[in-house]
Amino acid sequence: MSKSIVLTGITTTGTPHLGNYAGAIRPAIAASKNDDVRPFYFLADYHALIKCHEPERVRQSSREIAATWLALGLDTSNAVFYRQSDVPEILELTWMLTCVTAKGLMNRAHAYKAAVQENEEGEGADPDKGINMGLFSYPILMAADILMFNANKVPVGKDQIQHIEMARDIASRFNHIYGEHFALPEAVVEDNAATLLGLDGRKMSKSYNNTIPLFETEKKFRKLINKIKTNSLEPGEPKETEGCTLFGIYQAFSTPSELEDIRKAYAEGIGWGEMKKILFEKLNEEIAPARERYVALMQAPDHIEEQLQEGAKKAREMSTPFIEQLRESVGIAKIV
Ligand code: TRP
Repeated sequence: MSKSIVLTGITTTGTPHLGNYAGAIRPAIAASKNDDVRPFYFLADYHALIKCHEPERVRQSSREIAATWLALGLDTSNAVFYRQSDVPEILELTWMLTCVTAKGLMNRAHAYKAAVQENEEGEGADPDKGINMGLFSYPILMAADILMFNANKVPVGKDQIQHIEMARDIASRFNHIYGEHFALPEAVVEDNAATLLGLDGRKMSKSYNNTIPLFETEKKFRKLINKIKTNSLEPGEPKETEGCTLFGIYQAFSTPSELEDIRKAYAEGIGWGEMKKILFEKLNEEIAPARERYVALMQAPDHIEEQLQEGAKKAREMSTPFIEQLRESVGIAKIV
C-alpha cells in the first residue's frame, strides 16, 4: 500500500514559540515517526514575502524554524523537509493554477476580505490600501504547495480550512479542463491540539506580541514564565483552573495524574509564585535537551542547509517529472 501524503507549511516570518510547539510542531514530529504516512513539511518562504518585506527577518526565521524542527527530532529519513523556494516547480505550477482560478473565488478569501474590511472601516476611501497581489492570490500559491505533491491530508489551524477548500476547487477545475492530474486534498484540524494562552492571557500569538519563544536561554525562559499574568489571589485562597493561563500550559505538558495533583493544589490555594516554579520545571524538563541541540545547530548552519538540500532533492524527484506531465497537458511543449 502506498503511504498517505501529509503536507504542511510554516511561514518563515517569526520565531517558534511554545504555542506553535504544542499546537503544531509536536504533533507533526510525532506523525513523522509513523510508518504509514509520508510527511512533507516545508518552510514557506515565498509565503513570508506576502507580509514581510524585511529580508533579514525572513532569513533569520527560516534558520530558526529549520533548526527548531531538527532539534526536536524530526525524522528526516521518513519526512521530506525542504524549503519551498528550493522547489521552483511550485512557482511554475502556481501560474498554471492561477490561469484556471476564478477571480471571484479569490475575492472570497477571508484574509483578503478582512484586509479590505479593515480599510473600509479606517480613514480614507481606498479599500485596496496596502494589499499586494501576493496577498490577494495567496490561496493559489498554497494550492500549488499542496497539489505539487498530490497531498492527501493537510494539517492546519481552523483559519486555514478555507484555503484547503479553495485548493480542492482549483484542483477540480484543472482536472476538468486538462484531465485527472490532481488528488483532492483534505484539511485535518486537530480538535484536541493544545491552544495555549500567552503572557497577557489572550491566545499566544505573534500578532499579539505575547509569546514565549521556545528556545530562549533557560534564564530568560524562567523570567518569561514569571511574567505570565495571573489574578491577585493570595496563597491559601482556592483558585480556578478554568481559563487559567498557567494551568492551560501545564496541561499541555503533563500526564493526567500530574494534572490531577495540580488541580488539587489549585483547590487548596497554591500560590502563583509556587505554580510558576512548578510550571517552569515541567516545561524545562521537556525542552532543555532540545534547546541544547538547537543552540548547536544554530552554530552549525551548514548542517541545517545540508538537511534542507537533501529534502529538496527528494521533493524534486517528484515535482520534476510531475511538472513535465503538467506542462504537456496544458500545451506547453517542444515543437517536435
Ligand atoms: N498559509 C499557511 C499558514 O499561514 C502556511 C502554509 C503555506 C501552508 N503553504 C501551506 C499550510 C500548504 C498547509 C499547506 O499557516
